[in-house]
Amino acid sequence: MKANVAVLLGGRSVEHEISVISAVQAINCLDTEKYEIYPVYIAKDCSMYYGECLRDIASYRDIPAMLAKCEPVYFLSEGGKTYLYPHKRKFFGKPKPVALIDVALPVVHGTNVEDGTTQGFLRAYNLPFAGCDVLASAVCMDKFATKMLLRAAGIPVLDCLLFSQAEAKGFGTIIKSVEEKFGYPVIVKPVNLGSSVGISRAKSGEELEEALSLAFTFAERVLVEPAVQNLREVNCAVLGDADEAIPSECEEPVATDEILSYADKYLEGGQKSGGSKGMASLKRKIPAEISPELKKNIQDAAVKAFKCLGCEGVVRIDFLTDRETGEFWLNELNTIPGSLAFYLWEPIGIKYPELLDRLISLALKRHRKQSEIVYSFDTNILASAGAFGSKGSKGNR
Ligand SMILES: Nc1ncnc2c1ncn2[C@@H]1O[C@H](COP(=O)(O)OP(=O)(O)O)[C@@H](O)[C@H]1O
Ligand SMILES: [Mg+2]
Repeated sequence: MKANVAVLLGGRSVEHEISVISAVQAINCLDTEKYEIYPVYIAKDCSMYYGECLRDIASYRDIPAMLAKCEPVYFLSEGGKTYLYPHKRKFFGKPKPVALIDVALPVVHGTNVEDGTTQGFLRAYNLPFAGCDVLASAVCMDKFATKMLLRAAGIPVLDCLLFSQAEAKGFGTIIKSVEEKFGYPVIVKPVNLGSSVGISRAKSGEELEEALSLAFTFAERVLVEPAVQNLREVNCAVLGDADEAIPSECEEPVATDEILSYADKYLEGGQKSGGSKGMASLKRKIPAEISPELKKNIQDAAVKAFKCLGCEGVVRIDFLTDRETGEFWLNELNTIPGSLAFYLWEPIGIKYPELLDRLISLALKRHRKQSEIVYSFDTNILASAGAFGSKGSKGNR
């Protein structure tokens, strides 16, 4: 029997459109002999829709027209199973679900969706889902939390200063502490965004002020770190779970400016063109032109970071390196990478449909393991609730 897979896409995130591209690619590569696919689109107002037209990238050119052809839906748990239900009720009889869902494949990027929220939502429904669980998703979305944990594990990360909106008044104190600690140039970034949104480089106090104002329009907390000189970026994905995790080929994304921008990443090397292929369209070198030794060190650090943060599924781990000194630092982990990083697995013989199979198997494996854990135990505590009056367990917890 085929497994019913809900592919979640969209969401209230600045990377909404990128998610659409990534998810449509995945939908078209899932093995239809094995899976019945249910695309579930999360609109920017957080309402959810199901419809066949969601499989076609062309539908997204006119979202209101697309949604008019879709069914508003919601998830519902009944008898230990999770169903996708239409909002619209039939006049008579019980409403009929769209489908019983066996597993979810979230292909969503960014805040409000990739950061543990979708994962928590699915976990609350006891629905197996692909990719990292709640904690790893939340930690990896926060660049500061990630740095702190990786540093404790002995993985090289750049030092940084963290500032909150409350400290930002006038920027004078921030500029002073940045100048004292790092000097210039520095990179300023919102703590929890992706796709280079709100990130800039500053070479002077004036530029730093501008960079901070920009970053604070996107986030409550902003971090400042030294800019890596002679920058070469190297990305490596990792696939698996705590039992077994393997590294992919390494890629070298190529920027058209000092900072790899949103346009570099998604609009074909900065050239606006139709039919974007998402992260798969970025100008890149695969394999990265680095020494075998650096490649091995990066792959080892990627696997170590994946395990140390409790990651699962496929995660793309991005490094910054200095071409001259050969030093490298782990920059960030993308728990639901653009295009699910399929192009990093093909060079080592794992085709996209097989990568998706593995992600679904890992989701089911985790769910089986979690089902073996005891989450409730028989107790008669409520049978005699009246006897305790209204004091409950006060003082005994
Ligand atoms: N410390 C740094 N030194 C030099 N360039 C950097 C540094 N940090 C980030 N960048 C540049 O900015 C880009 C985006 O930063 P990143 O931390 O990856 O944020 P995002 O989550 O938005 O992808 C990187 O791909 C790189 O080109
Ligand atoms: Mg990045």
